[in-house]
This record gives sequence, structure tokens and C-alpha cells, in this order.
Amino acid sequence: SDPDLVARARAAKATLGDRVFVLGHHYQRDEVIQFADVTGDSFKLAQRAAARPDAEWIVFCGVHFMAESADILTADHQQVVLPDLAAGCSMADMAALPQVETAWQQLTEAGVAGQTVPVTYMNSSADIKGFVGRNGGVVCTSSNARRALDWAYERGEKVLFLPDQHLGRNTAVLELGFTLDECVLWDPHKPQGGLTEAQLRQARIILWRGHCSVHGRFTLDSVQEVRDRVPGVNVLVHPECRHEVVTAADEVGSTEKIIKVLSEAPAGSAWAVGTELNLVRRLAHQHPDKQVMFLDKTVCYCSTMNRIDLPHLVWALEELVAGRVPNRITVEADTARYARSALDQMLALP
Ligand code: 13P
Ligand code: SF4
Repeated sequence: SDPDLVARARAAKATLGDRVFVLGHHYQRDEVIQFADVTGDSFKLAQRAAARPDAEWIVFCGVHFMAESADILTADHQQVVLPDLAAGCSMADMAALPQVETAWQQLTEAGVAGQTVPVTYMNSSADIKGFVGRNGGVVCTSSNARRALDWAYERGEKVLFLPDQHLGRNTAVLELGFTLDECVLWDPHKPQGGLTEAQLRQARIILWRGHCSVHGRFTLDSVQEVRDRVPGVNVLVHPECRHEVVTAADEVGSTEKIIKVLSEAPAGSAWAVGTELNLVRRLAHQHPDKQVMFLDKTVCYCSTMNRIDLPHLVWALEELVAGRVPNRITVEADTARYARSALDQMLALP
């Protein structure tokens, strides 16, 4: 990275001292991650956001829904900054509050909502988390989806899972033992989600039709191709990948788990990793004694995670030094109160 920008980021951080706390998601660029005080998956970053109540500003190097969650979980006097407001998440954008409210209304009319607990993946807007909190549900991340679903099924017979169909299906089938027929797909663009009353009655999990386009690129062919090309390769993927990819993989887990699996892997072992490219590249660099490769032949960054680059980080830090708070992320109080109850419920999962 540009040495001038590195020096400016360093100087601004030094000036701000303990008044600033920089969080970085594992998908961030190396040039940004070097300035993070804490790096993590979405769960760890949600847990740690509130770890420094003395910090006036939390600079979130990640995407919008993560910064919103940090705002909800931190004290009122703390301000959360997202260095580029265009750092969103296309998956989170696939579930809008009016669509989810309409779906809930239709589930109510079909006589299903009463036995259904809403669960939302962290990758959703604060509005959706607020909806889930209002309706007695819980937030989950890729590292605790199983525990969140266990919690939900202690309280109801069905789950409405938002917005990632793949994480929902993979957890329900591979960890809870449901059949694929017990997982139904709710299409928000069709009346009653495109489902019949009979399908809704027999469903155990109603999956919102959302997905991650980065992880959606990995296919069964990618797995087959790497297994043919690299004998003995281990396939390690994120649970946002399609069901057939996760089923064909050797290990599955959140970004934090992917890092752990690779750090514990024996020297000489080969790993094809199905997740975002910045993380895979960093892992390859950190483990020169292992063969670490991207699962697919065509490589792919998360374009919105990548919007946070060193120039944006330097700009945000220098604005804080100048006494201005740039790109502040705030969540309206009523939404924040209910979203917080769904987030606290996640943080309290056993
Ligand atoms: P993790 O919680 O596993 O870091 O995943 C976040 C994410 O956005 C994956 O696409
Ligand atoms: Fe969203 Fe996918 Fe990017 Fe994760 S990798 S932030 S789910 S678009």
C-alpha cells in the first residue's frame, strides 16, 4: 500500500489514541486490516464492539449492517463511523422490511405465524432485526446458527429464516437433520411466497429467497475440479455456499472458524477455500507451509467489503482528528430497542 497513506493512517490513529477503536472484518483488504484493533467474524465483532466503552468513535471496517449492529450494541455516547457509505451487502438488501411484514401478514392469514419464530442472519438491516425482536425471535451469525435454531425450536414448531436461504438450509439439513422437503423457499415477489397452504403446513423452516452472490459462485463443479486437480485436497467452505457445495465439502464454518482450521492444519496439507478472496489470499500468505488456494478458478472479492480501502480509512480518521464525525451510522431508537433484544438474545445463546 501507498507509504504516504500508511504514514497518515498511523499518525491519525496515534493522535486519536484510545478515543478511537477500529474494528475490521476478515474480508477487509490487507491495507485496511493492518490498522484494525480487533479483527473478527460478524459474531466476534458484535461481541467486541461494546468492549471499549471509553472509545468515543468506533470506525467500522466492514459493511453497513455490521456498523448498524455496532451502533445498537454500544453506549449512547459512542459514535460509529463507516469509512464508505456505499459498503452495503447485496444479501442484506434482499429482505426489505415492508416485504417481510407482508410475508408475516400472509403467514398469519394462513394460520402459520402463531407457531413460527423469526430468525434473522446478522446480514440484514437493523429494520429486519427490529422486526425479529418485536416478534420474539433471535439474530444469528454463521458461527451460531445451529444454537439459534435450537433456541427457536424450543419456542415454536417452525422458523422463518431471513434472508440467507443457504445458511438456513445448510444448518437445518446438515445440523438439525431436517429433510430438504421440510425446507421451503419463500419468494417475496409471489403471493404467499409462491407456496401452497399444504407446503406451509408441512414446512419446518421457511427460507427467505436471499443469497450471497460472492459465495453463490462456488458450484459442485468447482469442488469436483479441484479434487481432480489436487489429490488429497481438503475443501473448506463458508455456510453461505449452496447446499450441494457445503454437502460436498470436508469442512464448513464462519470466517473465524476457517482461520482456525487452517492454523491447526498440518504442514504440507492442501486446502481449497470457498469464501471471499481477501481472506483466502491472506491465509495463503500466512501459511506458506500449506497449499492454500481459492475454491473456484475465477476469483472473486466481495465488492462492497472492498469499498473500504486505505484512502477511505485515512479520510475517516483525519476527519475525526479535525473534530468532525464523517459517515456516522445511527439506528432510530425504537428500531434499535427491538433489534437490540434480538441481538442480546443471540449474545446470550448457550
Ligand atoms: P462471518 O460471520 O463468517 O465472518 O461472515 C460474514 C459474511 O458476510 C460472510 O459473507
Ligand atoms: Fe454480503 Fe456476501 Fe459480501 Fe458477505 S460476502 S458482505 S454476505 S455480499
